[in-house]
Amino acid sequence: MAPVHVDNPYAGAVQYVNPTWAASVNAAAGRQSADPALAAKMRTVAGQPTAVWMDRISAITGNADGNGLKFHLDNAVAQQKAAGVPLVFNLVIYDLPGRDCFALASNGELPATDAGLARYKSEYIDPIADLLDNPEYESIRIAATIEPDSLPNLTTNISEPACQQAAPYYRQGVKYALDKLHAIPNVYNYIDIGHSGWLGWDSNAGPSATLFAEVAKSTTAGFASIDGFVSDVANTTPLEEPLLSDSSLTINNTPIRSSKFYEWNFDFDEIDYTAHMHRLLVAAGFPSSIGMLVDTSRNGWGGPNRPTSITASTDVNAYVDANRVDRRVHRGAWCNPLGAGIGRFPEATPSGYAASHLDAFVWIKPPGESDGASTDIPNDQGKRFDRMCDPTFVSPKLNNQLTGATPNAPLAGQWFEEQFVTLVKNAYPVIGGTTPVEDLVAPTIEGRFGGHHHHHH
Ligand code: BGC
Repeated sequence: MAPVHVDNPYAGAVQYVNPTWAASVNAAAGRQSADPALAAKMRTVAGQPTAVWMDRISAITGNADGNGLKFHLDNAVAQQKAAGVPLVFNLVIYDLPGRDCFALASNGELPATDAGLARYKSEYIDPIADLLDNPEYESIRIAATIEPDSLPNLTTNISEPACQQAAPYYRQGVKYALDKLHAIPNVYNYIDIGHSGWLGWDSNAGPSATLFAEVAKSTTAGFASIDGFVSDVANTTPLEEPLLSDSSLTINNTPIRSSKFYEWNFDFDEIDYTAHMHRLLVAAGFPSSIGMLVDTSRNGWGGPNRPTSITASTDVNAYVDANRVDRRVHRGAWCNPLGAGIGRFPEATPSGYAASHLDAFVWIKPPGESDGASTDIPNDQGKRFDRMCDPTFVSPKLNNQLTGATPNAPLAGQWFEEQFVTLVKNAYPVIGGTTPVEDLVAPTIEGRFGGHHHHHH
């Protein structure tokens, strides 16, 4: 029976659990015999679906870091049969020429040249598409996250020579991937849109929506080749800032969005951002049926440092810093941030966020896998040492603050158990437990409705 292309592939479906990743998690649980409660939480995490990353050509057939795509697709068919309902297989397409142009930790194997693009097409996208097109796999719904960070870098980082050089290859490579993958009826394309702390400002969100529309229009099927968009991939920006839910709030007649942390951005969290982007994308020509995904694998921010009731202050920066759940020094701190926790578990059509048009919460970044090494580690994948991953580095990109990265991190993509332990401990909602509800009553010291209101949505 030919597969039907549905509106939201996640609706009524389970998602693929990667047995290789689950084995790493269960092994970590086995090393926590001194803390049985923590071990139990880890075993719960092991049962959750995570995406399979094709992070280099050798990942297609399998390499020292994991089994190949056929192994996973065969397992997905088995899991789908066992579940007796549709199954979504989350796949990440991540090997563009000149990959990760604004950072070093996930630089890739293909150069930003015509030859690099030719290899991307013939040695990477074509073999992936050939495998996915196999009739044996037509019963599974394949949700492809297309090239994290690539198009977002073209909006904000085009002054970087590496991004300038990569730009035409990103556009052509993404177009090629969309064309090849959309031609397979049971594949669903989701374009990466960064996160609220990156593209949330209208001056970034607007040009990004235009760029996504341009790339869509360059494909054979046009807007139809894109099913949706995915935010917060491998980042830790919270789904919600429950104590800062009104981004128009003023303190002493000063808007909280003017704080150092938000830098005038209206989008404090991924719920704000996905609603904002959905609106702009539809205005740019996409059908209103496009769905949004949020990678919630590491954006929980629970644990002892999470504020649970509003702290009053007359200083806008002190107010924001005391009441935000995002404990990073700066929203640009992307590498293994200390204190992050696992977020909402994968879930189809989560309720309560109508304006965000969510298809699902997904775990694209597998919790426990590093974002980048904290020192220079030689490798054959093209990955380099990015000081954003070095906890001793004071970064000019973070207003000259220490990066807040977890020390002793291995190469991007490698299992990083110390980080995994923190992610599980700081999960929010608490795993298998009772999650405390925030006290949302604002202290009376400041007028909640003073000053100017900038209505965003
Ligand atoms: C790495 C990839 C890895 C992925 C998932 C990225 O940062 O560059 O090699 O597959 O994370 O962990």
